[in-house]
Order: sequence, then structure tokens, then C-alpha cells
Amino acid sequence: MSPDLIDLSYLLAASLFIIGLKGLTKPRTAVRGNLLSALAMLIAVAATLRHQDIVGVTGLLIAVGIGSFVGTILALKIEMTAMPQLVALFNGLGGGASVLVAGAYLAGKEFSARVASGACFTDVLTATAASGLIGAVTLSGSLVAFAKLQELKFVKDVSFPGQKLLNLFLAVGAIGLGWMLVTQPEHAQAWYWVMACVATGLGILLVISIGGADMPVVIALLNSYSGLAASATGFVLNNNLLIIAGALVGASGLILTRIMCKAMNRSLGAVLFGTMQSGGTSLSDEEVYTSVRSTSADEVAMMLEVSQNVLIVPGYGMAVAQAQHAVRDLTNLLLNRDVDVQFGIHPVAGRMPGHMNVLLAEADIDYERLKEMDEVNSTMDQVDVAIVLGANDVVNPLARTDPNSPIAGMPIIDVDKARTVIVIKRSLSPGFAGIANPLFAADNTLMLFGDGKKAITEITKAFDDA
Ligand code: TAP
Repeated sequence: MSPDLIDLSYLLAASLFIIGLKGLTKPRTAVRGNLLSALAMLIAVAATLRHQDIVGVTGLLIAVGIGSFVGTILALKIEMTAMPQLVALFNGLGGGASVLVAGAYLAGKEFSARVASGACFTDVLTATAASGLIGAVTLSGSLVAFAKLQELKFVKDVSFPGQKLLNLFLAVGAIGLGWMLVTQPEHAQAWYWVMACVATGLGILLVISIGGADMPVVIALLNSYSGLAASATGFVLNNNLLIIAGALVGASGLILTRIMCKAMNRSLGAVLFGTMQSGGTSLSDEEVYTSVRSTSADEVAMMLEVSQNVLIVPGYGMAVAQAQHAVRDLTNLLLNRDVDVQFGIHPVAGRMPGHMNVLLAEADIDYERLKEMDEVNSTMDQVDVAIVLGANDVVNPLARTDPNSPIAGMPIIDVDKARTVIVIKRSLSPGFAGIANPLFAADNTLMLFGDGKKAITEITKAFDDA
């Protein structure tokens, strides 16, 4: 392939990445955005492999076939609830790839020749150090995040006295080793791999102490790190497209981190220096659940029948129960009876950004009915019935009232201010943050115990039977 054609392909891929990202900002254009980005990646990979004469066209087609097959199986099989783990794993693999590529560059002939010639190439050496350092933190941090989200037994929240000091020591040590790599290129390989080991330890220690409700911020931040590492690798390889694509991932990951921080009331500084709160209980179940009242599907149907507006607040439990289609049927039934139905979407409901939007869109629920937290909170006192479907932390009033709670200060959907609250879940078990929820014992709350899909289907059926 001629260099001009390669450059043109890279330009096309970079433009498609940007247009694709823009498409991802709105539900209506998200599928197209995703397809354009996938096409951009295909062009980028194909152009790079052809440029370097790594594979011929036949080899390329076989690789695309195998990749598409594996990707399709993965997309069909993976549970929606396991998405965050998958994202964590992808981030980690990205970071690991950056470490290996930069390491391979140091072991290559081109590097040896440059060192032997005595030429100054501090910029490339700095990029190599950055690639290895950020990549190793991303790899180990993401693997720990994966293990935690997967609830693997051998990973526990670990914190010990002096941990922050040790983190600081490792961070300074890794940067120092990177500096040695830049100033002593003749020993670059040794400095590089020692630095990568120290950075690996840093990644583990930074993430291992984080638990409770803080994981989404960590995943978004690691996503950003994987982009920054890739961008640095782009400088090592002198590949403009890798620099651009890495920068896009790095920047979008940082923006997402900021949104997540805001949604969870955490400061970015606290995230960066690993000082986030970990999970824990503030009040015991006995203290909180003194007067829990339960209800039945028939009773809920009667309440809904006489209400004018209903707010549904979905959470992780809706994903587990796969209740979105049953929710659509109930929504349509209520709309046909002139009951207005809106959905209150919390930014960190579920286990990944946009989790609830994806599920509700899959069930063809009108986007216009999906309202953001601030919008529904401003009119909460006019809501006749708020149905909390498998949500817990995102509607927990302790976030407002208990400064010792691990979710203290996190903005919540204020369903407790609605006239009546119906909470659908299987038990009084806690949510992700592991704490009790006084909403379940509030005077205006009725608990409908059971699986989310079954409960919603029974409510719909109660209308039919009436
Ligand atoms: P959670 O607080 O995790 O609560 C989910 C509730 O769903 C549980 O209390 C559970 O109670 C119930 N549930 C589970 N299976 C159910 C089923 N089949 N039917 C009905 N209910 C079921 O969820 P949330 O309110 O959506 O809050 C999300 C939490 O996850 C936040 O703390 C957030 O920080 C964290 N997080 C979010 C993300 C992102 S980016 N969204 C990523 C990682 C972590 P039962 O067992 O009693 O049924």
C-alpha cells in the first residue's frame, strides 16, 4: 500500500472515530455511532497491517472472519449485568498491549541502532516510559477491578495503615525509574521492566482498597488511562492514528469520570489519589427496618388505576430480572388508561453508565419518557405513585442524612418525597454499597417482595383480571 493511501485511510478512520463518538451522545444515533466507530477500527487495523506488510489480503480476511465470529458470540452470550467486568477486562488488555508494544520497541533493532548512534531521542524515550507506566497501572488495576466486580472470592477490600504513603512511594518510584530509562537509554530495557513491575504493584494497591459505590468512577478512570497509554504508544511507534484514537479514549474516559464523580459526589482528586470511601454500614438493619409494610400486586394495581402520574425508577434489579419488556407492557397499559408514566434515570443506576437507558431502549420504551435525576426530583412532590424497581442505593435517603454512610453526599432520586412509593425487590437485602435503606421502612412506602419481572407481570395481570 502506498504511504499516501495509508495516510488517507488513517485520516478516514480518525474522522469516523470522531463522528462515531458524536453519534454515541444521543440514544437515537448511538447504534449508527457504534457501527461507524467499528468501521473506523476495521480500517485502522487493516491499513496498519497492510502498511507494515504483516499479513496479506487473504490473511486479513481470515482474521476479520475469526474476529467477527468471536465478537458475535461474545455479544450474544454476555449478560448485560456482566458488562462492567467486560469493560474492565478490555481496559486492562489495552493497558497490557501498550506495555508489551513499548517493551518490544526497546528490544528492537531500530532502538539499538539509535542508542549506538548516540542520537538524542528523549521524546520517544519519555513516551515509552509513559506507555509502560500508565499501561501497567491500567493492566493490574483493571484486573483487580474485574475480580471485584466478578465477586471473585480471593479479592477483598484491602486497606492497611500507611497504604496511601506506600502508594505515593510506588508512584514516585515508578516515575523515578521512568526518568532513569530516559537518561540511561543503554540500560533502557532493565529500567523499563523494573518500572513496569513497580507500576503493576501501584495499580493493584490503588484499586484493591476501593469498594462500595466507588467502582464506576474507577472503571471510567481506568478506561481513560488505557487511552492515554495507547496515545503514548502512538508516539513510540510514530503512528498518528494511535495517537488520535488513544487521545479520544483518554479524553472521553476523563469526561465520563467527571460525570460519574459528579453523580456520586466524589472529587476527582480523591479518585486520583485513591482516597475514596469504601463500603461499610452506617446503621444496622434492626435500627432501620422497624416498621416495614408489604403489599400485593392486586393492591398496587388498584393504586395505579386511580393515580394520574406514575414514576418508575429502575435499578440493577431490573437488569437482573430482565423485567424491561414487562415494564413496557405495564407502561402501555397505564398510558391507555390515561395515567402518565415517566422514568427517573439515575446516572449510576445498574452497573454501567447508561445501563437503564440501554435496557429500556431494548424494550422500545419511548426515549421521551426517560428523565434525568434533576428533572424528576424537581417535581417529585406531584408524583402519585413512584415504583422503585430493583433500585436501592440510588434511592437511599441516607445519602442525604447520614454523613457516615459510604454513599454520603451522593445525589439520589428523591422518591421518598412522592405521595406513595412501591418498592419491588426480593428481600430487604442491601444493594451495591452494602447498607440498609430507610426508604423501605418509610410511612409512605409499601414493599412488593418478589422477582422484578414476576411482580410487574402480576400487576399487569391484576388489571386484566379486574
Ligand atoms: P443496587 O443498589 O445495587 O440495588 C439493586 C437491588 O436490586 C438489590 O437491593 C436487590 O435486592 C435488587 N434485585 C436484585 N435482583 C432482583 C430481581 N431479580 N428482582 C428484583 N430486585 C432485584 O442498585 P442501584 O440502586 O441501581 O444502584 C447501583 C449501585 O451500583 C450504586 O451503588 C452504584 O454506585 C453501583 N455501581 C454502578 C455502576 C454504574 S456505572 N452504573 C457500576 C458499578 C457499580 P434483593 O436482593 O432484595 O432483590
